[in-house]
Formats: sequence, C-alpha cells, structure tokens
Amino acid sequence: MSAFVSVENLSQTYTARSWLRPGLAPTHAVRNVSFTIERNTVMGLAGESGSGKSTLARALVHLERPTAGEVRIGGIPLARLSRRGLRKARRRMQIVFQDPHGALNPRLRIRHSLGEALANAGVPRRERAAHAIQLLRLVGLAPEHLDRYPRAFSGGQKQRIVIARALAGNPEFLVLDEPVSSLDVSIQAQIINLLMDLKQRLGLTYLFISHDLNLVSYVSDTIGILREGWLVEHGPADEVLERPRAEYTRALFGASPSLHRAPRALRS
Ligand SMILES: Nc1ncnc2c1ncn2[C@@H]1O[C@H](COP(=O)(O)OP(=O)(O)OP(=O)(O)O)[C@@H](O)[C@H]1O
Ligand SMILES: [Mg+2]
Repeated sequence: MSAFVSVENLSQTYTARSWLRPGLAPTHAVRNVSFTIERNTVMGLAGESGSGKSTLARALVHLERPTAGEVRIGGIPLARLSRRGLRKARRRMQIVFQDPHGALNPRLRIRHSLGEALANAGVPRRERAAHAIQLLRLVGLAPEHLDRYPRAFSGGQKQRIVIARALAGNPEFLVLDEPVSSLDVSIQAQIINLLMDLKQRLGLTYLFISHDLNLVSYVSDTIGILREGWLVEHGPADEVLERPRAEYTRALFGASPSLHRAPRALRS
C-alpha cells in the first residue's frame, strides 16, 4: 500500500521582483524535499526560523503551486488537478495556522464563520446549524458559543474554533503550522491533547510544524528537520531522537535541553 501523503523532490523558489533591489537573488525556500506520511500518523517538522517550514506547508497543499516536484495525497497527484479540482481536493486537507486571532473574521459570529466553511463543504443551508453545533462539541465548546463574536473568546478557545472550522469539510489531512505557539503555555497542552484526540477519533493524518522540539517529540511518529530548505533529517521519531544522523539535528537538540526530559511514556 502506498503512503497517504507522498512528496517527491518538492522545491519552492521565490524570485523577488522589487524595483528597490532589482538584482536580488532568488530565495530557495524549499529544496528538493521528499518524504511520505502514513495514514493516521503524525509527522513532526522542526527547524530554525526561516528554514522553510511554512513554505513547505503551503506548497504541500498547493496553497501556492510549488516550483517543482510532486505531491500526492490519498493517491491523487495535486499538480494534475484543475483549479476547481484542487478546490475540491483541498477540503480533504486543511492548514491550521499559528495565530487564531487573525484567522477569524472579527465581524462574523461563530455561527457564520462555521456556516461559511460548511457551505464550502457543500452542506445544505438547513443542515448547517446542526453541523456547526456538532463541530463545536467536537472541539469542546458548547452550542451557546455559536452566537458570539471572536472577541468574546480566549486564544485557546479561538484556536478550538479554528480547528472546528478546519474540520467542516471532513478532511483527512491537517497541516498544523505552529498551532499552539501563540498560546499561553498552560493552554498549549489542552489544545495538543484535543488535536491528538481528534486524530484518533477521526482517523486524521497530521503534519505538525513547530520550532519546539519538545512538542514535536511528544506528538510525532516520524520527524523531519529542515535546514535552509533542505530536509536534513527524516525518520521514525525514536530513531531521530536517539540517533540523529545530521550534525545540525544534534545542535538543535543541544539547544533544547528539556527535550531529553520529555516523558516518553506520554508518546503513544
Ligand atoms: N512569499 C514569499 N516571498 C519571498 N520569500 C519568501 C516568501 N515566503 C517565505 N519566503 C522566504 O522563504 C524562506 C523560508 O520562510 P518560511 O516562512 O517558510 O520559514 P519558516 O521555517 O516557516 O520560519 P518561522 O519559523 O519563522 O515561521 C525565508 O527566507 C523567507 O524569507
Ligand atoms: Mg513559519
């Protein structure tokens, strides 16, 4: 059986077209990256700021078309899809970003934010309210939250709503780009536990991006490390944690002293 997510020789190059700096060299944000993710597993992706994690995330779900390479999700090569086909396929894969405050329209009640996502997913109007309530329950919120505006929620609650919205189209694959980095440490564990619970209950597959190696080691089945756009390390989490191959990975781990104290028993 082939992997659920398969990435082959993916590259993303940005060419700055700035009149201010006309001679600017292109930025090779992602360079020739290949990996696979099995269904219902978590691949953790770490690397320094600017190493290309978010660029890889966007290229992976074709939010931006990659410069080169091929991505298959559930066996479907995304590059062959038309714009419309891609829109449809994108329901099966969603990105959750770091900042839940920016992700929700402040002028829309939660009912309408979720309603829009459900409409995009093809849920008929008369069924949307019931679906919205189901989505809220799934992320640990209550029906009375539907008629509130985003400002009435804490950061953690907002991220729950963003996760609920991402689930509106019954996705199979979630890219989580620093999903708890903007949250209070005390709230981070709750959201991580929610994500892991949803993964089990809904059979989801994750690409989990974080600069926090502790977190990555806690949630991941496999781990990849990006450096200047290159995937310098990739393998089963235990192997990467215990016997990192790349010098760079060892240096990253060295900079994260708490990593070795991560309670391994918590990893399932
Ligand atoms: N739209 C863009 N146009 C030009 N350059 C870009 C664009 N997006 C990203 N880059 C460049 O690509 C490189 C990788 O950026 P990216 O945001 O993917 O890094 P990151 O690993 O997500 O960093 P962080 O941990 O800070 O979120 C950086 O050099 C960045 O400046
Ligand atoms: Mg980023």
